[in-house]
Amino acid sequence: MTKVLLSLHVLAAIVAIGPVTVAASMFPPAVRRVGLPDEAGDVGTVRLLHRICRVYAGLGLAVPVLGFATAAAMGVLQDAWLITSITLTAAAAGILVAFVLPRQEEILEQLTGRQSVERARTARLAMFTGLFNLLWATVTVLMIVRPGSTTGA
Ligand code: HEM
Repeated sequence: MTKVLLSLHVLAAIVAIGPVTVAASMFPPAVRRVGLPDEAGDVGTVRLLHRICRVYAGLGLAVPVLGFATAAAMGVLQDAWLITSITLTAAAAGILVAFVLPRQEEILEQLTGRQSVERARTARLAMFTGLFNLLWATVTVLMIVRPGSTTGA
């Protein structure tokens, strides 16, 4: 059972968090390309990237849910590496929900209303997106290395 839960947990991380990482990272440069004379970018692309981020962020909820189930099945809920991972996962989710997604939405509204978007706004969004990526990448390393853990490899 533990192996099934762990497999689903890792699968959810790959399938859900992967697309959010790629789409969120592509969002700021896609915004900057809108309105360029060579028509290299358009609002449709920006909207699609935002939609991918929103939908897959929702699917990403399966990652901590299955993570908790795996941890309970393994009896490692008290482990320091896991508590640290849970905290960092919560921080990553918080940044995504409180900063990345709402700012993407604001920028999308501006573009839809044919307003120009200041470079500082996309730069700030890129900063929050980078922070989100860094946090969950750290969690992934923690999940694999499990510092201080005496179970498994
Ligand atoms: C509330 C958050 C989370 C909890 C409670 C949790 C729990 C767990 C547990 C108990 C394991 C098994 C570790 C072992 O084999 O000893 C695991 C493995 C793993 N987790 Fe998580 N996890 C969480 C979030 C995440 C996130 C956000 C990611 C990546 C996006 C992630 C990626 C992985 C990976 C790749 C493994 C496989 C590690 C390996 O077996 O080498 N987890 N997780």
